[in-house]
Formats: sequence, structure tokens, C-alpha cells
Amino acid sequence: MLLHPKDLRDTNILLGVSGCIAAYKALEVVSRLRKRGASVSVVMTDAATRLVSPLSFQTLSDSPVYTRMFEAPKQWNVEHIALAEWADLMVVAPATGNILAKAAGGIADDYLSTLLLAFAGPKVVSPAMNTHMWQNPATTRNVEVLRRDGYFVIEPDTGRLASGAEGPGRFPEPRDVVEEISSFYHSDRALAGRRVLVTAGPTREYFDPVRFLSNPSSGRMGYAIARAARERGAEVVLVSGPTDLPSPRGVETISVVSAEQMHEACLASWAETDILFMTAAVVDCRPAAYSGVKAKKDQDALLGEVVPTPDILTALGEDKGSRFLVGFAAETEAEEGLISARRKLRKKHVDMIVLNRVGGPQSAFGDDHNAVRVLARSGEEDLPREHKRILARQLVDRVVRALPGRDM
Ligand code: CTP
Repeated sequence: MLLHPKDLRDTNILLGVSGCIAAYKALEVVSRLRKRGASVSVVMTDAATRLVSPLSFQTLSDSPVYTRMFEAPKQWNVEHIALAEWADLMVVAPATGNILAKAAGGIADDYLSTLLLAFAGPKVVSPAMNTHMWQNPATTRNVEVLRRDGYFVIEPDTGRLASGAEGPGRFPEPRDVVEEISSFYHSDRALAGRRVLVTAGPTREYFDPVRFLSNPSSGRMGYAIARAARERGAEVVLVSGPTDLPSPRGVETISVVSAEQMHEACLASWAETDILFMTAAVVDCRPAAYSGVKAKKDQDALLGEVVPTPDILTALGEDKGSRFLVGFAAETEAEEGLISARRKLRKKHVDMIVLNRVGGPQSAFGDDHNAVRVLARSGEEDLPREHKRILARQLVDRVVRALPGRDM
């Protein structure tokens, strides 16, 4: 990827500096980020301020340096949220074993760790410490957790450390750190300029004002996918059936009730859509008749005749064009479910099917966790049981990698 010069133009970077002897090298990181067009705000831990003067960072970043959370009591509360809102990217360089542990555990006991918890966008850490600390199983574990949570970790170099010993743990050359930050940021924003349509939740098919046909879908998977696509720079429209979930930040959410309304809302966005995640658990049939008053149970047939609802995914698939379509298959049987999901992949003209087990103790419905099998024409892959937030990122990532014309 040949992007520089000015490849970070209009990018707001929040740079955290923690207390390691390599903290002075972060000064060059600031200058290099600014040369690439980024605006940089620096947050230093207490220990870092003992190693390098905040004034140096202030001069090089040309903006105030944030140190203690309670230093400006009139503002801090607003400020840490405001800074987290301002930033497009957060970087901790150098990152000590201590800040890695705090970030992995969600501990927020100073300004930098609080910002790491409050910031929802892409995050990079560049660890630097002595070899024993780097190779300590606790650090290995923390780094693994951070990677799973979506952090990008810049591997430390191997070489002569401040202690005089040789080994892995060295802070890389600032030039290389900035190169890694930039290529991560651009690959991470892989969906910038793309429009993603996500459907989520159940539908409800009412047969009188108070009763309906539905299913226990919570909408969590679809909401997590909308958030994950947004994190990667997409413009996202979320068409949601009834759920208890708040609309994800930065996502346009359209609330619908029935399959028919969901279909209409999808059609209204279809011309601008590049990628569809059809995550909703659409109810397949609806009562043929609707009674404006509550039906009586001694009526001949309370529910009456049912008729099919539109198969939204199939209908959209018929006008696929160059769009990338992801369908979901909710199946109760393992073997038959797989056969049926493979059939749906062909029949519904989709590029990918995500197979979910529903019903039984490990049902995808309502749980925060899920395990899925991803079926594409090129092959199949199992994604082990994970929190839906993480699984959503993995699914969005599979789509990013499968998009035609990608060279990363
Ligand atoms: N789907 C849809 N419209 C429907 C039913 C399903 O768009 N009326 C979509 C779902 O959102 C999902 C995919 O089609 O992305 C497969 O849904 P699923 O319920 O597993 O399959 P069905 O097509 O309903 O087939 P069956 O119930 O026979 O398994």
C-alpha cells in the first residue's frame, strides 16, 4: 500500500504515552503523524510525565497535553467523553505491561485507561518493555485478550533494551510505528464509502390488536453487525423489527414491525446498498385476516388461515446486481441444517450464508454468545462460540476479505 504523503489527512489521533523509558521516542511519533496530515492530542500517564516533559509533547502536537483526570475538575467529566468523541483512532505508544493489563481488564483508574474504555473506535497499542515482562504469561494473556477485543498490536522489536539485555520488547523505530499505524487505519476503514444494509430482530405478524406470530430473536447479532460495519467506516442503515436494544451510534435505524414493512424499508434503501446482512428472523407466514377487535377464543379458529410473508432475501437477491449479500440460516438440526443452508446459499443468490443453531440449550436466539458456520462458494469455515460483538467483527471481516477488487 503506497499511501503517504498526507495519508492521515483529516484524521484525529489520540496518542497515549505510558511510562516506559522509550516514552521519548513518542515525540518523533507525534511529528511523523503530523507530517502525514493527522491532528494529534496527547494523553500521558503520571509515570510518563516523569520521563518526558508534557511541554515537549505540547510543542510538537501543537495542542494541550492531558495528564491527570482531576486536574481540571470543572471540565474533566465532559472532557474525557469529548476527547473520545473527537478521536478517529486511539494509539498507545509506548504501551507498558501495566497499561496493557488495565486495557485488557477494562480498568479505568487514570485518564489514559479511562479514555481507552470510553473510546469505541479503532485502537492500536505498541508495547515496549523488558523481555521478561513481555514474555510473562500474564502479558501474553493480556495481549491475546486485546487482540480478540479488536486492538491492533504492533509487535515489539528484538534488540538491545534499556537494561542492556538483548531480547524482544524494544520499541520499534518511530518511522515503523507510524507506518504500521497508517496501514492498520486504512485497512481497518476498509468499508469507508460503502453502504451497508443490516436487518435485525424478529418480525411480528398481528392477527388482532394484541396478538401476533413471532419468534424469540433478540436482534443482538444484527445490532452487533451494524456496529461492526460502522466501526470499519461504512455508512449503515439498520432495519429493525421490535427489540429492546438502543440504536447504535452513527447508524441510521429504521423501526418496523411486520415482514412486509421490513421488505418495504429494505427496498427503499436498496438502490444505495452495496452490502446486505439479512440477519433478521423474518416470520415466514402471517394471518390472512386481521381483526380490528380482539378475537374471541371461542371463535371457530382464533388465528384463521395463514399465508406466506414475502421472502425478502430471495426478492432482493433477484435484483442483486454487484451487491454482496449475506444471508443467515436458522436451523435446529445439525446435519440437515447444513444441507439446507448449502441449498439456501444457491437458491437465494447470496454470496455467504451464516449458519446458526437455534432451539435447544445452545440456541442463538437471545444469548449473548453464538457459534456459527460460514458458508461461501469458495469454502466453509467454523467460527467458534464467541460473544456476538466479537463474532460480528469476524463476520464483517470475512466480508471485507471476500469483496471483489480488494488488494489488502
Ligand atoms: N428470510 C427473508 N424473508 C423471509 C424468511 C427468511 O428474508 N420471509 C431470510 C432470513 O433473514 C435469512 C434467510 O432468509 O437471512 C434464511 O432464513 P431462514 O429462516 O433460515 O430460512 P427460510 O428461507 O425461512 O427457510 P426455512 O424456514 O424453510 O428453513
